[in-house]
Formats: sequence, structure tokens, C-alpha cells
Amino acid sequence: MEKFVVTGGKPLFGEVNISGAKNAAVAIIPAVILCDEPCQIENIPNISDVTLISKILQQMGAKVRRINKSTLYIDPTHIGTYSATTDLVRGMRASYYLLGALLGRYGKAKVALPGGCNFGVRPIDQHLKGFEALGAETRLVDGAIIEAECEEGLTGSHVYLDVVSVGATMNIMLAACRAKGLTIIENAAKEPHIVDLANFLNSMGADIRGAGTDVIKVRGVSYMHGISYSIIPDQIEAGTYMCAAAATRGCVTITNITPKHLESISAKFREMGCKITEYDEALTIDATVKPLKRCNIKTMPHPGFPTDCQPQFTALLMGVPGTSIVNENVWDNRYQYISELVRMGAHISVEGRLAIIEGGTPLTAAPVKATDLRAGAAMIIAALQVSGTTEISSIQYIERGYEDVVEKFKSLGADIKKVYYSDDTEHELELRA
Ligand code: EPU
Repeated sequence: MEKFVVTGGKPLFGEVNISGAKNAAVAIIPAVILCDEPCQIENIPNISDVTLISKILQQMGAKVRRINKSTLYIDPTHIGTYSATTDLVRGMRASYYLLGALLGRYGKAKVALPGGCNFGVRPIDQHLKGFEALGAETRLVDGAIIEAECEEGLTGSHVYLDVVSVGATMNIMLAACRAKGLTIIENAAKEPHIVDLANFLNSMGADIRGAGTDVIKVRGVSYMHGISYSIIPDQIEAGTYMCAAAATRGCVTITNITPKHLESISAKFREMGCKITEYDEALTIDATVKPLKRCNIKTMPHPGFPTDCQPQFTALLMGVPGTSIVNENVWDNRYQYISELVRMGAHISVEGRLAIIEGGTPLTAAPVKATDLRAGAAMIIAALQVSGTTEISSIQYIERGYEDVVEKFKSLGADIKKVYYSDDTEHELELRA
């Protein structure tokens, strides 16, 4: 059993380099299935979700080689199946992108239902609606596997999404890339990783216009060629380190980012009294200038405030005097982690989609667990604020999406380590890796 042990109470100072975007990488890697030649992808984050999706492609026959820590070479030309039903597939939410990619490439797909982060109901009805609009028949087999098939070959069509869905927008783009004719996706999501996936596919020869707006047009092509491509920086990882800097009243420069992707996040920090200085590919957040003020947050699809930064902000706001209100407007149930913060002395109550935070109460260290990826990041931010020692369990969720999280926090002066508890010996060993 692995845990993070954090002794907080010290402001963070220094510089941290942001990795490539997880939610772009987990779509772009399976998108290579659509390509007729090998591809090289750079700025890939070294996280367990990437390892998992790479292994899944290998199981299917692709050659996947890590050229260096952040570069993958993927040769899809030996993929000999349209089926992905192993436990590895079930273990990750983003494996649903295999459906769009396989359907787009082979006209059929058989993929185990996705697992992944543990919050709320996570339907994929809009993905399936899109595939059906392109002519595929979809069915759920044994309650655990989705089959999609179109004997005639997919044909472009109009798809209107009932909810703004990142996954459905990207999956329909994947399926439509090689379909006959024109597909129009309306009410599409506009996240930076949607634009990144479209740029990746267009570089391979696809014809996608409008990504980043709510109407995306995809004209099918018959051949897609190999390319070398670099993934965008992870705006949520950046937002997480900004929260940690503010929560500890420190000053941190965040490098390898696109400041424009962070606008809604930076605006909140400014509202709270932090000084944000933007550069071409970096920014500095300074929380030493004046006392931080409470604020309210409402999560929304891009360009609104991202739900994936909601738990981290809640952890920050619990240490800011006054009442802050968080409105989670994307997911039904993304507050499971709040009971962990309450163990540390936070005064937070949840009423439906609202979390009401009475900030500035005395906080103490406590054993807490990461209930999902961003909740885990929130636990680190909470722990960095208290002067005692906090143990965080279930850190496998955190490692799904944050590269070198211990090393990056340490480089900012945090006292954090990863420890291994052996159940047999009840002996604590510090991991040296
Ligand atoms: N929804 C439906 N039907 C669908 C799809 C979605 O009703 O077919 C609903 C969901 O229940 C939710 C809303 O639409 O209420 C938005 O869901 P979306 O499809 O946009 O989420 P996702 O694509 O499954 C991605 C990220 C999440 C992130 C959301 C929202 C990946 C692998 N995951 O999920 O990231 O929260 O978009 O931005 O890209 C994370 O990184 O921690 C994470 C959970």
C-alpha cells in the first residue's frame, strides 16, 4: 500500500514545469488507430493512464515504443482486431475513445465499458447517439461490452448533442474522420484538448473545421498519414499548482503552459487577491501581496471554470476566511472528497450541487484518502496548509493524472514523500524510486 506523507505549513516558492495534457493524450493515443502509418507524439505526460492506454494498443497489435520520457512512437499498422475487451480496457474511463477510433477505421468496434474516476453517473449515451447518426448500430452485450457496427461504412450526418460533452465531441470526431461525406456536430464542447485532437487529426490529413466553437464540421477522408505531433500543456495540472501556491501563500512560476487556456482559473485567483503575471508560455502566481479574499465558483464547460479544478479550489478556499460557495454544474456527484476535508477541520456543507465553505477555521492533520484523481490533488493542497503531518491513501488515483507529483512539489519546497506500508511487517519503507 502506497501513501503520500505531507508535512505542511510552509509557503511554496520556485518554478514548476507542466507536463502534456492528460485528457488530450488519452484521446490522441487511440486516435493513431485511424492512421495508415506510424506516428510520433511528443509532450506526452508520464502518468499511469498513458501507460494503460499504450498497453491496450499493444494488446491489440500496435507497436508502441517510448523514445524518451515524453515521446511515444506508435505504429498502428499491425493492429489485427476491432475488439478491446480486456480488464485493462475496463480499468480506464478514456478507453471509450477506442470505440470512435475503431469504428472510424474498421466500421466496427467491440469495447469493454469504461471504468475510471469514481464520481456520479457517467453515461455515454451521446457518444452512441453520434455513432448511430453516422449509420452504426450499437448494442450493449452482457451489460459490460459495447458493440458498434456499420456494414455499409459510416456516412456523414448531423449530430446535435443534448449535453455539452467533451468525450462525445471527440469520439464523434474520431468516428467521422474517415466516414463518407460531411458530419456536423452541433452543441460541441470547446475545451483546448478538443482543438488539440482536431489539430492532430488534421495534421494526419483529416478535414476538421470549427474545433473550439460549438459547431464542428468533419469531411471524411480516405487516407491518413503518419506525423510527429506535440501535445498541448495540461491546464488542470497548472491550475493545481496555482492552487497549491495560493493555499500556502507562496509565489510560484508555472512554465510550459498556454496562459490563454488558464483564463477562467487566473481570473478567480485575481479576484481572490493573487497577483498573476503572464508570459508567452509561463505565468507567475504571487499570493504574498495581500490577504486572500473568499470567492464563489461555478463550474461550466470551457471557456467556463473547469470542473477538474473544483476540488483543488475547494481545498484552497477552506483556508480563506469568509463564506465561499462552489456550484458544481457539470457532474452530479463530485463532492465525495469533502468528508475527507471535514476530517481536517474544514467547515463545508453540501446541498445538492452547492458546497458552502466557511473558510478560515483551524485545520489539523488527519489521515485522508484520495477518492478520485482531482480529489487526491485537493488532499495534497489541504495537507500543505496544515503544519502537522497528513497521510494520503489511495494515491493510485493521483498517479493516474499527475506526472512526478512528489518531485514537482518537493522542488517548490514542500515536505512530501511517498511511502510504502507492507501489511505483513507493518513496516514503513520510504520509496527511493
Ligand atoms: N454526459 C451525458 N451523456 C454522455 C456524455 C456525458 O449525459 O454521453 C454528461 C456527463 O454525465 C456530465 C457531462 O455530460 O454530466 C459532461 O461530461 P463529459 O462527457 O464532458 O465528460 P467526459 O468526456 O467523460 C472529460 C474528462 C473529465 C472532465 C470532463 C468535463 C477525460 C478522459 N475526462 O470527461 O476529466 O471532468 O471531461 O470536462 O477527458 C479528470 O481529468 O479528472 C476528469 C474527470
